[in-house]
Amino acid sequence: MSGPYARIAGTGSYLPETVMTNHDLELLVETSDEWITQRTGIKKRHIAGPHESTSDLALAAARSALAAAGRAARELDLIVVATTTPDRVFPSTACLLQEKLDVHGCPAFDVQAVCTGFVYALGVANNFIRAGQSACALVVGAETLSRLIDWTDRSTCVLFGDGAGAVVLEAATEPGLYSTQLHADGSYANLLTVPYGVSQGYDRVRQGDAFIEMRGNEVFRVAVNTLGRIVDETLEHNGMSKEDVDWLVPHQANHRIIEATARRLGLPMERVVVTVDEHANTSAASIPLALDVAVRDGRIRRGELLLMEAFGGGFTWGSALVRY
Ligand code: COA
Repeated sequence: MSGPYARIAGTGSYLPETVMTNHDLELLVETSDEWITQRTGIKKRHIAGPHESTSDLALAAARSALAAAGRAARELDLIVVATTTPDRVFPSTACLLQEKLDVHGCPAFDVQAVCTGFVYALGVANNFIRAGQSACALVVGAETLSRLIDWTDRSTCVLFGDGAGAVVLEAATEPGLYSTQLHADGSYANLLTVPYGVSQGYDRVRQGDAFIEMRGNEVFRVAVNTLGRIVDETLEHNGMSKEDVDWLVPHQANHRIIEATARRLGLPMERVVVTVDEHANTSAASIPLALDVAVRDGRIRRGELLLMEAFGGGFTWGSALVRY
């Protein structure tokens, strides 16, 4: 493998101000802090304000990542936003973000792979850089999932939150990003879905009656199996072993799923970045949010090897192996 490679030049994130705790949810549905904590590890989540959109969250995360990278927005030659909760049907959230960043002309588009969205977006941006088509790319995961939640359904409303995370990728002579492994299997579409959209059931969308539907048990089982396999596949593809991995930066859906993947890697939980307790499941935003938290608090250092992995609606799943 020869260059150019993509390296992470800077990370950023943003969480909306409003915090909703498990105790707040006890007032909405028949649930308890104890049940939510035991089954998921979640204690609280952030909820976007009524006038805050996905591109607003993305903008705050992007500015923070650009500052960390020491880059100006005008240096960007690619913007990829992973989101399942775009501001509009079109234009893409990436185009709206580009305008908010006051840059013009570079390609900007969204990637929709639900909770695996950030890993997919990293894979796309990595390929642009590897092909010499980009030298400074912004990759964002941003979501306002609270807008897709039925706040009377206790089996889903306790699981999700809003937020955004971003990385600036730049071309480098050494990796950086070793590989992304990306997968999908649409035969699982109905296990985790909002089954309405523009060309199907749009009336439900217009009535504000289109929500996340999930068969939690089955999702859990497939997620644990699939994530175990992707860990092995990623290491094998890169000729590396479990011992080489310094940090697992997983999608933050459920503490028990994260623990199962860490066990598969033989990594102690001290080497796993966990934010699900504080952020809940922020879908495409969860990995870059977790990454930024651990970079800023000094846990993740330059030169360390990070394994990111995610699983989500589709089903989609994937990983990225990165030397930070
Ligand atoms: N509070 C209290 N009880 C709840 C509840 C809540 N918020 N949600 C569900 N329950 C109840 C159920 O109604 C059920 O009651 P019953 O036995 O009387 O029917 C009981 O708790 C057990 O439900 P079950 O769905 O079997 O629980 P579980 O142990 O599978 O945990 C999840 C549920 C959702 C936490 C778990 O399945 C999960 O995490 N799945 C993966 C979801 C996920 O990560 N999705 C995103 C992937 S990107």
